[in-house]
Amino acid sequence: MALTKQQVVDWLMRCGEVFTQQRDFLTRLDTEIGDADHGLNMNRGFNKVVEKLPSVADKDIGFILKNTGMTLLSSVGGASGPLFGTFFIRAAQAANAKQSLDLAELHQLMQEGVEGVVMRGKAEPGDKTMCDVWWPVVESLGQSAQQQLSMAEALQRASERAEQAVEGTITLQARKGRASYLGERSIGHQDPGATSVMLMIKTLAEVAGH
Ligand SMILES: Nc1ncnc2c1ncn2[C@@H]1O[C@H](COP(=O)(O)OP(=O)(O)OP(=O)(O)O)[C@@H](O)[C@H]1O
Ligand SMILES: [Mg+2]
Repeated sequence: MALTKQQVVDWLMRCGEVFTQQRDFLTRLDTEIGDADHGLNMNRGFNKVVEKLPSVADKDIGFILKNTGMTLLSSVGGASGPLFGTFFIRAAQAANAKQSLDLAELHQLMQEGVEGVVMRGKAEPGDKTMCDVWWPVVESLGQSAQQQLSMAEALQRASERAEQAVEGTITLQARKGRASYLGERSIGHQDPGATSVMLMIKTLAEVAGH
């Protein structure tokens, strides 16, 4: 079963709701090791994405994802706007002219999106960034594609992997972004950006599971 364009649109719409619901929680995480704006950033960015969706919903998946990335890039400041923006813009290239994605295509898309984030932010494994969730998610999708699992099952597994990976950021010391200024004091706190990635994947799994 492929992921349809309508499911991609539903996913982005639901992300708008999720980042409204989770705004204060994400901002609280960013208060502990950052500058208390992550929830506001994601909420503002995805509100704009949702606002613009009706005008692009009849286009292909690549166009919709590119539009999402450009919207995040232009409406969210700081580190996370350009990073999430780059994710969607790079991912869009792998979905050019597509009306649906099979699991191998979704894996490829995620992989390319994450490569864009790494190129931009230069994160390495264990730096306590959003990439510490993106990487396991991509790996999980790759394994599921090889095993020819269904889209719903694959995303369910990716979502569970993302939840474990977010917990794994707690014990890490930050080496990128503002949290790295805290040195060892960044240990013991969950990374906000990594939490947002987990929420996005969990939301995609919910959309695909219906
Ligand atoms: N170089 C990087 N590569 C990947 N992710 C990063 C990088 N720097 C920061 N992040 C992610 O961005 C999140 C912070 O996003 P936020 O919306 O608060 O932007 P910000 O306040 O400008 O970020 P920061 O203070 O970390 O530079 C972090 O939790 C981390 O996951
Ligand atoms: Mg911040």
